[in-house]
Amino acid sequence: MANINIGVLTGSLRKESYSKKTGLYIAKLLPEDFTAKWIDLSGLTMYNQDYDDGGNPSREWQAFRQEIKSMDAFLFVTPEYNRSITAALKNALDVASRPFGQNAWNGKPGAIISVTQGKLGAFGANHHLRQSMVFLNIPLLQQPEAYLGNIAELFNESGEITDLGTKDFLQTFADAFARWVRTLTKAAGK
Ligand SMILES: Cc1cc2nc3c(=O)[nH]c(=O)nc-3n(C[C@H](O)[C@H](O)[C@H](O)COP(=O)(O)O)c2cc1C
Repeated sequence: MANINIGVLTGSLRKESYSKKTGLYIAKLLPEDFTAKWIDLSGLTMYNQDYDDGGNPSREWQAFRQEIKSMDAFLFVTPEYNRSITAALKNALDVASRPFGQNAWNGKPGAIISVTQGKLGAFGANHHLRQSMVFLNIPLLQQPEAYLGNIAELFNESGEITDLGTKDFLQTFADAFARWVRTLTKAAGK
């Protein structure tokens, strides 16, 4: 069976980001034929259409677009900033969606998990992200929905999750994501 490449995108640039920790944790729960790679968004400058119109997109944009094109599916872990997604994550979506007609995300399956140190599970960010994904044509896993609140309390100092209920839930989420990706990549002839 061909290897399935998963791009893990986490919406925070913070060194000790819980979104990143969560993404890396879920990556380890995926089946053996899945290769998950965390994609660094910190080098992406703000999207400006002038550079695409002038035919001189930056090297960083080009490399990022290539990397997104090389992936079979995406896991998005989003924090919530002011009830929406972060500028860093939105910028990444925008950069790889252009130039017009060359949407690198097109047709590749994805899943979203939202995390916050607050109590509400970053529902606002989770669903704002879903809105963009309709237009980007990233078919999303619907269930289980994943909203992780009080995230700071879930990780111990070695970056592991100890709460059994959360561990079980994340394994269920990872399994459902893997099934979703297999179904869609098979349909696409992979
Ligand atoms: C600018 C800003 C806005 C925030 N807004 C929200 C918010 O609307 N809802 C929420 O639950 N947490 C909010 N937070 C708290 C973040 O969820 C928390 O800092 C989280 O840990 C960020 O993710 P990270 O750990 O991956 O960096 C906000 C944090 C920042 C810096």
